[in-house]
Amino acid sequence: MRTDTPVAVKLKDYVPYPFSIDAVELSFDLGAQKTTVRARLSVTPKGTGPMRLDGEALHLNYIALAEGGGKAAPLDPADFEVDARGLTLLAPPGGPFVLETEVEISPAANTALSGLYLSGGRLCTQCEAEGFRRITYYPDRPDVMSSFRVRMEGPKAAFPILLSNGTPGEAGDLPGGRHFAEWVDPHKKPAYLFALCAGDYDVLRDTFTTMSGRRVDLGIHVDKGDAPRAAWAMDALKRSMRWDEEVYGREYDLGVFNIVAVRDFNFGAMENKGLNIFNSAYVLADEDTATDFDFEAIESIVAHEYFHNWTGNRITCRDWFQLCLKEGLTVFRDQNFSADMRSRPVQRIKDVIKLRARQFAEDAGPLAHSVRPDTYGAIDNLYTATVYEKGSELIGILRRLIGPEKYREGMDLYFERHDGQAVTIEDFYACFEAVTGRDFSAFRQWYAQAGTPEVTLDETWDAETATLKVRLRQNTAPTQGQPVKKPVPVPLLSALLDGEGGHVAASGRKAEPFLVVLEGAEAELEFRLPEGSRRPLFSVNRDFSAPVRLVRKLTRDERLALVRAETDPFNTWDGLQTLVKEEILALSDGSQAKPDDALVGAIAGAVKGALGDPAFAALLTRLPEVGELFLERQPADPVALAAARAKLQAALGKALAETIGETLAKPAPAPYHPGAEQASVRALRNAFIALLGASSEPEAEATLSRLYDSAPNMTERLSTLRALMFTKGGGKAKAIGHFEQMWKSNPLVMDKWFSVQASTGTAEDVKRLIAHPDFDLRNPNRVRAVIGAFAMQNLAAFHAPDGSGYRAVEATILAADKANPALGARLMTAFEQWRVLEPKARGEAEACLKRLVEAGLSENAMDIASRALAAPG
Ligand code: PHE
Ligand code: ZN
Repeated sequence: MRTDTPVAVKLKDYVPYPFSIDAVELSFDLGAQKTTVRARLSVTPKGTGPMRLDGEALHLNYIALAEGGGKAAPLDPADFEVDARGLTLLAPPGGPFVLETEVEISPAANTALSGLYLSGGRLCTQCEAEGFRRITYYPDRPDVMSSFRVRMEGPKAAFPILLSNGTPGEAGDLPGGRHFAEWVDPHKKPAYLFALCAGDYDVLRDTFTTMSGRRVDLGIHVDKGDAPRAAWAMDALKRSMRWDEEVYGREYDLGVFNIVAVRDFNFGAMENKGLNIFNSAYVLADEDTATDFDFEAIESIVAHEYFHNWTGNRITCRDWFQLCLKEGLTVFRDQNFSADMRSRPVQRIKDVIKLRARQFAEDAGPLAHSVRPDTYGAIDNLYTATVYEKGSELIGILRRLIGPEKYREGMDLYFERHDGQAVTIEDFYACFEAVTGRDFSAFRQWYAQAGTPEVTLDETWDAETATLKVRLRQNTAPTQGQPVKKPVPVPLLSALLDGEGGHVAASGRKAEPFLVVLEGAEAELEFRLPEGSRRPLFSVNRDFSAPVRLVRKLTRDERLALVRAETDPFNTWDGLQTLVKEEILALSDGSQAKPDDALVGAIAGAVKGALGDPAFAALLTRLPEVGELFLERQPADPVALAAARAKLQAALGKALAETIGETLAKPAPAPYHPGAEQASVRALRNAFIALLGASSEPEAEATLSRLYDSAPNMTERLSTLRALMFTKGGGKAKAIGHFEQMWKSNPLVMDKWFSVQASTGTAEDVKRLIAHPDFDLRNPNRVRAVIGAFAMQNLAAFHAPDGSGYRAVEATILAADKANPALGARLMTAFEQWRVLEPKARGEAEACLKRLVEAGLSENAMDIASRALAAPG
């Protein structure tokens, strides 16, 4: 069997929907096997011609139409047509009318987790991007906004709690053990924000008083017994609500805000109006079952979904090409929230790590696309690092270029001008043009062009005239379908450093950081210093002010000198990262036999010097992941890179042995609190524990086993378990067995158990995990914990030259894809880098991709596979 690739949708084909849907009334008769949905759409035509409604996997029972306030009469079969993708009214009335439909759907049979589905015996929905059409016939596009009134009824024992968007209306009991509830959403919204949840939950309740003094009832709905583990999510929600008031002046606009946690979910969470639905992994946490990493993710995802209420819901996207309008902007907002809650420089470094690992990789491969693409195949595949992470960077650039005050002014205007509308990136930038009087057309090139710009920097120093000349050039490599690139405005936050921790004045500039904007293909900067001055050091792209790759030919000593002189924490970290990357590359290609003592000593020295800021010190011990190194030298040999990385890690552990010993001998902070201060201390402990795992000293394993046994919380339990994976003695198997015994009844914790082994083990280990009775093909978290972790975090094993890694997961990818195309497609992205691999793995990867295509993939997965296989150019 083979599937065709989906038909491309093009931005230039956009036409407004020729009808307005003034009101929607939905009535659900809920059942797990069968749910009946009655819809009443109040329609006003804006022109003439047929009316197209989207609909998939629906069984139509009834369709009727009413005109002029009359009674609805069933439609003649000659008046409409039904096909696999929807329904067409061939000749709708010319004036206002009401369309009534009744359809049947089967939540239990819905394994795609899009539309209405069953998870753990409860009903829930996922409508973004095109799930609403799996619930009822509707113009399922974001520019059709309407007000929704929802009635649900069903058996009270199975579904005691009935939730939808907006605020609750009437509710009550019905004969036969049944009950009903109504919900009314006063805000117009597109169908992708519709949500419904029905089931038995425990609820954690709280209230929030908005800045104008209105009370909001908050509820987090979780599995029975889990309510205490929602406390951190609740805390994060209240802090998010306050932050959006204080930083953006945005107040919540309903009396109720609900979150529902579900175990089976394709993404992280969803911002449905007034009823956010979350993957339970991003709601539930306590010190025994979640790590600091989880607590931090919960904080940022709760904030992200909440922030969508204004950036996404009140103002939404005209079409899905504009996805970054809500996602890039909302990521920018949640990143700044996290920076305010924790440490700004540490947050920036973590955001850049993610950007480089995921987005730069995407930009460098066959799946490269622009932040605002002009064509797409499968819409589910547009939820990418480019749209989210690079989309956020572009808002960061905008804010840096115009300054925080103008940024806030422009945002205020955006909210005022477009509240209640579905708009475009052009509409967004028009607001900033209005408040600054500037022209953003060159800037918008950032949205149109795929690929990561490369900025090359050359410098010359003329001692006689005490002048530093800096030449900057930019270039973006061609990507699929975009052979020629234009320059983009690149804001480079810069400084002249004196080498003693201070800044230097030059050419009339004060001794402080300054912004250089590289507008064209190249520019030359000249800094004249007072006569007889020493050569200053040029610090550039501070705080990672532009999402570019910087090419700067420096020797190891010059780089080290620059790192020592740095006054920007991001650049201190990044300077060392660059050195470490170069070192791993040299060790991996044999041009260097062992790690350079001076370099290892310098990193160790930097770590010791930063112990007062443990989260930052932890980042200084971090070595780039193998995947990040793919970008640096090609063809890439993951096996050699992983070995070189381990060598350097061991050397660093040795150089820091004393500090590691002292740090880990201290007790972990107690009692546990997930906030930044303690998490920072634990981050350094974790980093040191990881270094112990890389050590070849026999006592390291004993120390790790001891730390594992006495771990006071999941953060340390998991970091020691992970470190033990790299050791050779019996401690590893013992810990794996113990952990499983301890947590086998907690699926979220067991995801960690699966993931730790899949991301560190062999192809044989992965086969064993797939065969484990708790491996569940229907649960995306579990599939990602095994297949995702193996394919995306364990590159030496996944891309093994004999193809064993691919063969270990191939059948599982196919099976997952068959049930759940969004999941299947996401797993397929593990192949995005196949062309840069060394010849053996590359050949095996290509063969595997072809076998998958031949076996038959979903349209979503086929969209990824065909782009991955397409000839470059
Ligand atoms: N819109 C969600 C977010 O907040 C992501 C998502 C997309 C979730 C599609 C489910 C389905 O980013
Ligand atoms: Zn989002």
